[in-house]
Amino acid sequence: MADWHRLGSKDELLARVPFATKIERNRIAVFLYDGRLTAISDACNHKGGPLSEGRLKGEFVTCPWHGWEYSVVTGKGPAGYDEEQVPVYALAGELKADTQRSLNFRHCEGNYSKASHACTWPCAITERDPEDQLTAVYEGLVHWADVVLISTPIRWGSASSLYYKMAERLNCVQNQITIRNRVLIRNKVAAFIITGGQDNIQALAGSMMTFWSELGFVFPQFPFIAHSRGWDAEDMQNNVRQVKASDALREASRELAQRAFDFWTIMDRNRDMLDKPMERAGRKANPIQDIEEAIV
Ligand code: FES
Repeated sequence: MADWHRLGSKDELLARVPFATKIERNRIAVFLYDGRLTAISDACNHKGGPLSEGRLKGEFVTCPWHGWEYSVVTGKGPAGYDEEQVPVYALAGELKADTQRSLNFRHCEGNYSKASHACTWPCAITERDPEDQLTAVYEGLVHWADVVLISTPIRWGSASSLYYKMAERLNCVQNQITIRNRVLIRNKVAAFIITGGQDNIQALAGSMMTFWSELGFVFPQFPFIAHSRGWDAEDMQNNVRQVKASDALREASRELAQRAFDFWTIMDRNRDMLDKPMERAGRKANPIQDIEEAIV
């Protein structure tokens, strides 16, 4: 599990970058690249030169002593020298948490059913109606959130009606992949909490994972937790009481959030390996081109 050390608020860091700090025995250099704070070792692999005092050109900082270069995102040298790597550190100074619940938002109006191109991004409903509160979800999922925890009760083997109402409205995100090959969600992690006293949790979790994977999310190991007392547990007052009183469930939720965040941290350090072109054949709404052409 990661050890976290407080460096200051995001604004405080932005006012100081680039700078070096020492945590235990490690010298750490903090940079601002492409609007994002990054942290790598301050000590150059060559003779320990202070990278925080180097010149930043694009993604690469040049060591002020003898000119070795490192990406401030991946810690690696430029192409051809990329086996030379300094340690990279995750910055929780970039971390903000937001919870959305009981939002008041409109139903999907079924534009997609009329024509696939009529379901647009940004969603036509939010564009027309400033009161529509799904804007907060769209902005979180597509723009600023790196890790998303989705929680729903289970009823008759399904998620809540509110969840499905949201899923319908998220079609505009997935539809951008279908009609324009625009993947709006990349390198983000989702995990799930399902609460309720009845069965079919695995089927529901499978269905939720499929949907969120089609939006572009990926998952940590053991990506959901759920609580089921089984078929005969209709005494809901006891179910709620048991869930609320359970330290084990509280700890499991905390660990799920930590697993999701740790997994995102690993991905974030390896972004250069992740953003690769993707053959669309065999994916939703994509024909096997060669066969279609042969038939035509
Ligand atoms: S110490 Fe950095 S290039 Fe020599």
